[in-house]
Amino acid sequence: MSMLKSTQYYIDLEDKFGAHNYHPIPVVIEKGKGIHVWDVDGKQYMDFLSAYSAVNQGHCHPDIIAALNEQSQILTLTSRAFHNNILGEYEKYITELFGYDRVLPMNTGVEGGETAIKLARKWAYEVKGVEENKAEIIFAEGNFWGRTIAAISSSTDSDSYGNFGPFVPGFSIVPYNDLKALEEKFQNKNVCAFMVEPIQGEAGVIVPHEGYLKGVRELCDKYNILWIADEVQTGIARTGKLYCCEHENVKPDLLILGKALGGGVLPVSCVLGNDEVMLTLKPGQHGSTFGGNPLACAVALASLKVVKNEKLVENATKMGEIFRANLKKMNFDIFETVRGKGLLNAVVIKPFGDHKTAYDICIELKNNGLLAKQTHTHIIRFAPPLIINEEQIHQACNIIEKTISEMLKK
Ligand SMILES: Cc1ncc(COP(=O)(O)O)c(C=O)c1O
Repeated sequence: MSMLKSTQYYIDLEDKFGAHNYHPIPVVIEKGKGIHVWDVDGKQYMDFLSAYSAVNQGHCHPDIIAALNEQSQILTLTSRAFHNNILGEYEKYITELFGYDRVLPMNTGVEGGETAIKLARKWAYEVKGVEENKAEIIFAEGNFWGRTIAAISSSTDSDSYGNFGPFVPGFSIVPYNDLKALEEKFQNKNVCAFMVEPIQGEAGVIVPHEGYLKGVRELCDKYNILWIADEVQTGIARTGKLYCCEHENVKPDLLILGKALGGGVLPVSCVLGNDEVMLTLKPGQHGSTFGGNPLACAVALASLKVVKNEKLVENATKMGEIFRANLKKMNFDIFETVRGKGLLNAVVIKPFGDHKTAYDICIELKNNGLLAKQTHTHIIRFAPPLIINEEQIHQACNIIEKTISEMLKK
């Protein structure tokens, strides 16, 4: 516990010396273990954000930290100028686990997205036969895949793209969860890929109708278009499957993973795919100094093994069902919708009180010992680490119920 410095001291430091590109909930965390974090005053919280699903295995998981410690004493970075003795083992493990021919390792989620787009364009010109520089990629309305120029060029959120133009050409938007509109877009012979989140996370945990993912697979097959699934947030057991597309038993052509692949310890992302697409890339055409580094590979291997050993897929399914059932039972008028899959859930809040928003609820939840974050003004996402147990789910629900009841009384 920091005895001398207050919460406000740390907030002021960030405010004075950091760029103002975030608006955090005012809590200063100094320790994490399992599903809990502690602030600089020693107060304990349940973490119901999990660093946007990067901490699925829980904070400082002992197996992941052990792998980090062990590998960090031996070898951390070689660059891809040389081979290292961990990369191949990791590549074998992850491709066998997810059922793809090959993997391309990167670091952040957005780099995974960039990589998938480059692969799709390369495939368009060299395999599909699209005319040079004419390839088009379709994205879903409300998508979020990061903050690079390519990512914001496909964004429909003005906060993301406003005053950052000019934008990357060759991108086009289709309504989410609309197969008819998608098929219309696919009439353009230059379309080479459709990139989509199987559940839209940042848009507010938007779950498409059953059959949507299967329909996307069928349309992509029919028109010889690559399906890129952005599972940076939904992958690694978050929704109660190893990756979310498994809910409809379909497999994308390119699968992007990130966040929890690094076990909440390091940025580790990747794109998985089969030979026809992956082998279009030749040496020198794509890469990253840190992608595939031995430390990241050791951490990712440990992170994936924790998911398997601790049956996090099964636990996310079970705990998610109990959580949503409890939320629905609360019967608050201000709960417009409770939705989600596994442990990726959200509550849509109707306006209430004196212009109160989801942010105000998150502040009160924090005061009562639970950390969650709003997305947009009216949605609260609840996404605890997947190691959470039933007693903790009930404890969290008690905090949520008490917090909202108190706010409604005021
Ligand atoms: C679906 C999805 N894709 C990509 C990203 C970008 O990941 P990163 O912030 O690691 O670049 C995010 C981040 O929230 C995401 O939710």
